[in-house]
Formats: sequence, C-alpha cells, structure tokens
Amino acid sequence: MKENSDHLRYDLGDFAYGTWRILDGEQPLSCEALVRRFHKCLENNINTIDTAEIYGDYHVEEAVGNTLKSDPELLNRFKIVTKAGINVPSREKSHASIPQYDSSSKNLVHCAEKSLRLLGIDTIDLFLVHRPDWLTHPEDTARGLQQLIDEGKVRNVGVSNYTIYQFETLDQLMDGKLATNQVEFSPLCMDPLYDGSFDQCLQKKVRPMAWSPLGGGALFSGKGGAEKRLRDKLTSLSPKYGEAPLDALVYAWVLAVPANPTVILGTNKIDRITSGTKGGAIQLEREDWYAIWEAAKGQSVP
Ligand SMILES: NC(=O)c1ccc[n+]([C@@H]2O[C@H](COP(=O)([O-])OP(=O)(O)OC[C@H]3O[C@@H](n4cnc5c(N)ncnc54)[C@H](OP(=O)(O)O)[C@@H]3O)[C@@H](O)[C@H]2O)c1
Repeated sequence: MKENSDHLRYDLGDFAYGTWRILDGEQPLSCEALVRRFHKCLENNINTIDTAEIYGDYHVEEAVGNTLKSDPELLNRFKIVTKAGINVPSREKSHASIPQYDSSSKNLVHCAEKSLRLLGIDTIDLFLVHRPDWLTHPEDTARGLQQLIDEGKVRNVGVSNYTIYQFETLDQLMDGKLATNQVEFSPLCMDPLYDGSFDQCLQKKVRPMAWSPLGGGALFSGKGGAEKRLRDKLTSLSPKYGEAPLDALVYAWVLAVPANPTVILGTNKIDRITSGTKGGAIQLEREDWYAIWEAAKGQSVP
C-alpha cells in the first residue's frame, strides 16, 4: 500500500543495501567486488547504503568509503545512512571495557565527523541514533542531532530500535524532524506490528526501515518449527507468484504492511540482490500474507 506516500517526511524507496555483514566472508572483500555489488544495487533501483560506525568491528564505514571514492558514479548516486552510539571494547574504543551506549551530543557529533571522514562524503543523508541510550537525556541527544543539521554535516536524522515513547519524546524535542525508526521486522520478528511502532510511523508520516528482514538468515537456515513451516509455506506459494524466489516473497510480505517499511537487504551474494528485489513488484493476496503469518506463529489468527 502506498497511500499518502507523497506526504512522507523522508523516503528511501522499497530497498536499501545493508553493509553489516560485508566483511564477514571467508575471503577478504576486494574493493572491486564491492564496486560490482553496489552497481548491481543501482541496476535494481537500490540507491541507499545502510551502514553504521560499529559494523565490522568499526571497519565497514572505511571499506564503504574506499569503494565510493574509487567510483565517482557511486558517490553521486547513493544516499548514505549511518548510525552511531554503540561502544564496544575494541582498538577504536579503548575507553570502553564493556559494551555500552552513548547518545550524548558530544559522542554523536564526534561519530558523525568520523563517519564523514571514513566515508569520504561531505554530508550524511540520514544519521541515526543506533540504539536508545538510557543514560543520556533526550534533550542532549536532540542538541547533538540539531547541531549536525545546523553545521550541514547531516541532512536528516532518525533513530533505530526506539520504543514509541522514546521516539515521541525525541521527535517532539526536534519539532517533528525524525525521518525514520529502523526496527527489526520479519515473519520471525513481528514486534513492530504489536508494539505500536508501525502505527506511530503511519501517524507521523514516517517510513520505517526493516532490519534483518530474513531473520538474519535464520528463515533459511533455522531448524526450528517456525522456520521450517515458513520455508514450506513460501515454497508452496512460489508457483502462484511466478516461481518467485523465497526471499522475494518475504520482502513482499514485509513491504505489504501499511507502514510500508524500506527493506534492508543483508545478502553478500550479488545474484540475490537481483532476485530478492523482485519482491518489490509482488502484491501478496491477503490470504497469502496471513498464511505466512500463520506459518510463523504455528496457529491461525485469534
Ligand atoms: N539498526 C540495527 O540495529 C540493525 C541491526 C541489524 C542489521 N541492521 C541492518 O540491516 C541489514 C540487514 O540485516 P541482516 O543482514 O540481518 O538481513 P537478513 O536479510 O535478515 O539476513 C542476511 C543473511 O541472510 C542470508 N540470506 C539472504 N538471502 C538468502 C537466501 N535466499 N537463502 C539463504 N540465505 C539467505 C544472507 O546470506 P548470503 O550473504 O549468503 O546471502 C545473510 O547471511 C544489515 O546489513 C544492517 O545494515 C540494522
């Protein structure tokens, strides 16, 4: 459903490419391979890269930046989303002896400036607070985000993994500027349908972003009942949707809810960028959407 989509605060389209896992392969990822992957995204109408300070033990932003610098077309055509505020023990965060969050203005400004440098860009299109930090007053977070906007270092700001109350509080302090709430959503994690996140997005004309749309891959590799039932159901539905790949059917399921989340792809396989994005053109019938819900839950709707 795309009703009122022209009134959205900000819209990245149906798909973004996620970079959390790009350095996870057995072989080191070459810049050339990532250039090819990013071009494949553009061919399939994905023009947003989703990254974060913490990804790849704080090394992914640099890899993305080196790739963008090597090909000016990529630099011009992609929007960049990055996130900050998670500190885990590492060489980059020598002051952190345990994992912790820091959404203070000081840290957010510092992280955004570092992201600009590593990514080799002048402005971050969308800068997100990665997770709510219970120890920072939202006024301080708002101050940092506003400073970054005022200094032209970020164009838009948003949050990730925020409850509806945390979103409302920060959004009010920022005069309704939050562009998104990036949340986990898949048939294996339906929390945003129940906790009000998607309703809040509809109310505020915010397009959410859905992370781990395939349950982090568990939907295909998981041995649990829900995963097996889902694979069986998707396999049985595939012929009805033109032999659609199973991941494409799942992305269609994610996109079908009224809040119409931007799906963040997490694959490292270049061919899955093309096959998965076919899901953007699939309109699941109501009965089939609910059949996938049923397979995930192991019961019919109450
Ligand atoms: N804001 C947050 O807190 C947060 C948290 C987590 C992630 N994210 C963002 O969301 C993005 C996506 O998350 P995710 O990587 O967990 O997404 P996902 O799509 O749920 O999981 C990706 C995994 O699924 C596998 N996969 C994909 N298609 C498959 C298929 N057809 N058959 C079998 N396996 C398949 C991939 O393996 P292959 O590589 O082999 O395809 C990969 O290991 C991340 O890159 C990141 O940008 C944000």
